[in-house]
Amino acid sequence: MLPPSQAGEFDGSGRANGSDYPAIAALRRDFIWGVSTSSFQIEGAVREGGRGPSVWDIYCQQGQIANRDTADVACDHYHRYLEDVALMQRLGVQAYRFSVAWPRILPLGRGQPNEVGLEFYDRLIDAVLAAGIEPWLCLYHWDLPQALDDLGGWTNRDSVGWFADYAAMVAARFGDRVKRFATFNEPSGFTLFGLGFGGKRATSSVDALHQAIHHVNLAHGAAADVLRAQVPDSSIGAIHNYQPCLPLTPVDGPAAERCDAYWNKAFPDPQCLGAYPALIQAAIEPHMQAGDLARIRRPADWFGLNHYSPVYVTADMNGVLGFALGDKPANIPLTPIGWPIMPSAFRDTLLHVAERYALPVYVLENGMGGYDKPDANGAVIDTDRIAYLRDYIGALNAAALAGADVRGYFVWSLLDNFEWDAGYGVRFGLAYIDYPTQQRIPKASFEWYRTLIKAAQNG
Ligand code: FCB
Repeated sequence: MLPPSQAGEFDGSGRANGSDYPAIAALRRDFIWGVSTSSFQIEGAVREGGRGPSVWDIYCQQGQIANRDTADVACDHYHRYLEDVALMQRLGVQAYRFSVAWPRILPLGRGQPNEVGLEFYDRLIDAVLAAGIEPWLCLYHWDLPQALDDLGGWTNRDSVGWFADYAAMVAARFGDRVKRFATFNEPSGFTLFGLGFGGKRATSSVDALHQAIHHVNLAHGAAADVLRAQVPDSSIGAIHNYQPCLPLTPVDGPAAERCDAYWNKAFPDPQCLGAYPALIQAAIEPHMQAGDLARIRRPADWFGLNHYSPVYVTADMNGVLGFALGDKPANIPLTPIGWPIMPSAFRDTLLHVAERYALPVYVLENGMGGYDKPDANGAVIDTDRIAYLRDYIGALNAAALAGADVRGYFVWSLLDNFEWDAGYGVRFGLAYIDYPTQQRIPKASFEWYRTLIKAAQNG
């Protein structure tokens, strides 16, 4: 970690300044304000229009999700996307990051494309553009076609070709209108939690994890080449979850270093610097072929950062990775769902990734999870989320002031949605979803963000 920066008006204490709005004067004039979502978390319509099943449909069917929730309906965005685009227009965002569901346009992951699925994204992209919002398309936000998982998924080196072919189809169909592309969202998230921690989804060995890491990196490089070749004026990156890995006690130092290697660096290091972190190099070696590192390190236009909080790490001698997450020191501020609130860690991470990877940084996810409920008047007054966003955007400004080349900030998320293992119980949206009626209720944070964006644009 870098030493604490010259923080300017931000003192790192958790409050950006006395007011409800953070200072943003250090941000560029062409700074982009946006919101992010992902296909599986909002679309619903999982069996409609010829969509094939994804691995997450199967986890849901198996009852692995809290409250046995499924994403069968989710936010019904597949049918209500126009309402959601109108919400974004009202919010005033300049950009919308969404993902394409691979099994919606290639139900079996490869082979015959599904025209009905492609047409859905045509309509969505056209509506986003008509609203004056720039679409940022992420190719992969974890909804792997089940047919490909049946063939070994990311542990199969053929996955590199499957992904490149899928990228080519997306580029050919949407590249006339979409220029911003992300290859993967949080590759460390789905590989580590899928294969690394020995949890309910770990179907195989630690070696499978290293295979998957390497193949996802190769798939990133292959897709970046395809997009670059097929889409004129494209702007390409990958999205990484990156945060300080803090030892819970002094003896947990080595475990924290292992966490940093796997969670933070296993993807951006080879993708941007051309080498795996030393701690995992030997484990990847058996899966490496001549020329692979050059295939992975392809030119990128930006670094996508997802950041919520630091993680505290403990040694775990029984786990295959030697580290575990979850415990936290007593008396640190937490969000309602128990994630540490530490805006100074965000500032430090921004400075760190901007320097280490030497690319413009876009924050493509940041936000607060809670258990929001409408009050007696039907309003959702999420002052805790406003305070979180205010302090984190204050930290962003502090990072810019200290020299980080940060060019955009996207709130996770536009809508409450299917929050993976936590199902619908955990809410991250600027708009509340009343799931029984599918009514969208903009929260107080929605109005707050709208005012901030307006001020930023007039500033
Ligand atoms: C990130 C995911 C996103 C969402 C947020 C809360 O790790 O990319 O889909 O679940 O966490």
